[in-house]
Amino acid sequence: MSETVSTHYDAPDLIARIKAALSDAGLSPETVTADQLAPIEEFHVGGRMATDALFRDLDIRPGERALDVGCGTGGTSRHAAAQFSCMVEGIDLTESFIRAGRTLTDWLKLDGKVRLHCASALDMPFEAAKFDLGWMLHVGMNIKDKQALFAEIFRVLKPGGRFLVYDIMRGEDETTPLAFPVPWAGRQADSFVRSPHQYEAVLRSAGFATIRTEPRRDIADAFFAQAAEQAGKPRPAISLALIMGETARDKFANLKRNYEAGRIVPVAIFCEKPR
Ligand SMILES: C[S@@+](CC[C@H](N)C(=O)[O-])C[C@H]1O[C@@H](n2cnc3c(N)ncnc32)[C@H](O)[C@@H]1O
Repeated sequence: MSETVSTHYDAPDLIARIKAALSDAGLSPETVTADQLAPIEEFHVGGRMATDALFRDLDIRPGERALDVGCGTGGTSRHAAAQFSCMVEGIDLTESFIRAGRTLTDWLKLDGKVRLHCASALDMPFEAAKFDLGWMLHVGMNIKDKQALFAEIFRVLKPGGRFLVYDIMRGEDETTPLAFPVPWAGRQADSFVRSPHQYEAVLRSAGFATIRTEPRRDIADAFFAQAAEQAGKPRPAISLALIMGETARDKFANLKRNYEAGRIVPVAIFCEKPR
């Protein structure tokens, strides 16, 4: 399973591509800002707008220790560290994402606050009860064993620790097969999209409490409307296509098609480890 995930996302020349895109946009690694990089910093439905909306409810405080599970290149980790002055550790299975992420962290001078590790979410290199809070954005679709995933997350959170899941889940049509490829998988056999009820049951059995589930059609609708406005215009140099690779258009088109058919919906779940 792990090998398939890394192979799907692998982008060995990502930093070279980002440098070329910066140059096309008249920018440079020495002076680039977080806002200029934002379009490639968040690899989930709604991008930075979604992150900001969801983080408002996480109540992140300065100095807190935060965990970003499946951080990709670490854009959300950097954004949280810069916005809230928290310390963030991100983990991701895809080694080329972590390598690129460390370079981006240096460019944005956030290396004192953000540490990125190449590791599996099912076996994290952290002691028990290390984190005050954490999040996992658009990762569960890649992980079959959600029981093991949430047990591991529960282990590394402190009692009272808050956790946010924001994943693509099954919509009102839970049975029609999805169209592939999508951003997280090239084929059905590598996709583990589940319903909000299935997530809630697994979270509860891992020990989490205060579970609040919010399907976020508002975020998805705004995201797809914004994309529709861009249709037909030249693609900006700095876009998620840099990360999604050759098949970016097909993956995005299927994401939208599956969403509009009610087969998937982005859902936020806020939960807490009991004290
Ligand atoms: C769609 S990307 C989302 C990245 C990031 N969370 C964001 O929203 O920008 C999914 C990420 O999950 C990572 N991933 C998938 N399965 C994983 C696992 N078992 N352990 C750690 N990372 C995993 C992938 O490598 C990929 O970077």
